[in-house]
Amino acid sequence: MVEPAAHPGASTVISEDTTVDNLARERDRLARLEQLARLGELAGGLAHELKNPLSTIKLNLQLLQEDLLRLPGAESSRARASILRKEVDRLGHTLDDFLRFAGRLELHTKPTRLNDLVRDLIDFFRPQAQAANVRLHASLCPEEPLCPLDPNLIKQALLNLILNGVQAMPDGGDLIIRTHVDQNRVYVDVADTGLGVAAGAAAHIFEAYFTTKKGGTGLGLATTRRIIEEHRGHISFSSEPGKGTNFRLDLPLQ
Ligand SMILES: Nc1ncnc2c1ncn2[C@@H]1O[C@H](COP(=O)(O)OP(=O)(O)OP(=O)(O)O)[C@@H](O)[C@H]1O
Ligand SMILES: [Mg+2]
Repeated sequence: MVEPAAHPGASTVISEDTTVDNLARERDRLARLEQLARLGELAGGLAHELKNPLSTIKLNLQLLQEDLLRLPGAESSRARASILRKEVDRLGHTLDDFLRFAGRLELHTKPTRLNDLVRDLIDFFRPQAQAANVRLHASLCPEEPLCPLDPNLIKQALLNLILNGVQAMPDGGDLIIRTHVDQNRVYVDVADTGLGVAAGAAAHIFEAYFTTKKGGTGLGLATTRRIIEEHRGHISFSSEPGKGTNFRLDLPLQ
């Protein structure tokens, strides 16, 4: 299993000058949030423009399909209409995925016991992990840290990491979630014993729509990073081919 990065927020490169490092990291975080806010505004407008005609198309297609059912000898037209229907549905899903990622993200933060949140998530996910031959472990810090979090969003962010970990272990393995406190930050590590991040992929995994999976949208990590950064947190990872990957979140304490 890949050990968590020893340095808060560090992945592969560990800089001597942490102050400059932190400033650069903070500047990147703010730039990304600003860019996403702008994108979110545009996306809202575009989605409105696209959703209405899309639902009209869908409704009329449904009616057309019903007409075709009553029309003798229209098998090939029925087949075409059903392809159209599938593609219209797919467009709708693509739009929904994009909006979940780029749409307005409103945090409803409240003082949250992070360890309890992790325990809930593990209980919730255990059956799915067992089905995939994955053993889930937790190693939670004794301090029971209280953090200003939007619990639903943080669960979503962690779930994306857990799902990725399970998907990286096609033959099963171990997935461990650790928490620890250091000064005024809380760290959460999600480590798997999977294949590791593919060569050449490391620089891109947080980009929206980057995926190496058949059927993946590539929005999981982009969404997770967005949620963590909206919480004034950071995400980083370390990975070793064939050994596994560790994703680390750091979040503020209450
Ligand atoms: N734990 C991991 N081990 C190995 N590679 C990973 C891991 N987590 C992410 N990756 C790599 O990062 C890519 C992007 O991950 P991300 O979660 O954003 O999208 P996805 O899992 O491919 O699709 P989606 O989450 O939308 O279903 C993955 O396709 C994979 O190549
Ligand atoms: Mg994913």
